[in-house]
Amino acid sequence: MKRICIIGISGKLGQYMTEHALKLGYDVQGVCRPESVGKLDRFGDKIKVFPGRTNDREVIREAVAGCDGVLTVLAPWGVDDYASGTAKAVLDHAEPGARLVFSCGWHISLDGQDQYGWKIKAALAVGKLARLARLVDIDDQYRATDAIFASNRLWTVVRGSDLEEGESQGLPVWSEHTQDPVLASNITRRIDFALFMVHALTNDTLIHKAPAIVSRMSQSAVAASQARAA
Ligand SMILES: NC(=O)c1ccc[n+]([C@@H]2O[C@H](COP(=O)([O-])OP(=O)(O)OC[C@H]3O[C@@H](n4cnc5c(N)ncnc54)[C@H](OP(=O)(O)O)[C@@H]3O)[C@@H](O)[C@H]2O)c1
Repeated sequence: MKRICIIGISGKLGQYMTEHALKLGYDVQGVCRPESVGKLDRFGDKIKVFPGRTNDREVIREAVAGCDGVLTVLAPWGVDDYASGTAKAVLDHAEPGARLVFSCGWHISLDGQDQYGWKIKAALAVGKLARLARLVDIDDQYRATDAIFASNRLWTVVRGSDLEEGESQGLPVWSEHTQDPVLASNITRRIDFALFMVHALTNDTLIHKAPAIVSRMSQSAVAASQARAA
């Protein structure tokens, strides 16, 4: 893995992924909205930026050319298929054999076997209201991941828990299903969500999987680890 592209590089997750990827010695390039390019000033000429909306197929085609890995932030903004347009552009234009890693939340389910508590169900209900206000279209994130799951590309869909800011606590732990007790704490540092995304680029056991992650220092992850050791 030498050169990677980060789609949605100017957001909080995108900037953390950039930091991790630069530390690992990757050549980093990325796509962000033209009005957000200034958010990346601190990286200077260490990265190459392609300004454009992430569902602009021509911008994506140029940005992913020559990249061995693509990290994509799926954001369900607006009501014009932003997330699904972004996912399809990456699936269609990435290099053959490139590792493709996408971000989303626990609400996405690869096999329909996930079970959800009231908190996630309530958040999804709020998302439906946001659709009425034409701000956010959660259903578009489902369309995006349906396209990814149906693809024979080398994809991983990383499903983030609730997020918080703070120093790294290390690589999160994960499970295939949200009801796994290891995930019960439902909290991950955003910097570590980014770490897991970058780690997934080179972890072939995560190909065609949708890991749901949680902080390795969370109460539920520590309890699961102690139970295994006992
Ligand atoms: N927030 C959470 O609690 C949470 C929980 C679980 C999973 N996730 C997942 O984590 C990922 C990152 O989420 P985040 O909340 O941490 O946000 P984030 O990293 O700040 O990313 C938001 C992205 O959306 C873009 N964006 C913002 N407003 C937009 C608009 N009006 N039109 C088009 N693009 C716009 C941002 O680009 P600009 O820089 O151009 O604004 C940025 O690329 C997502 O895939 C999300 O599903 C989040």
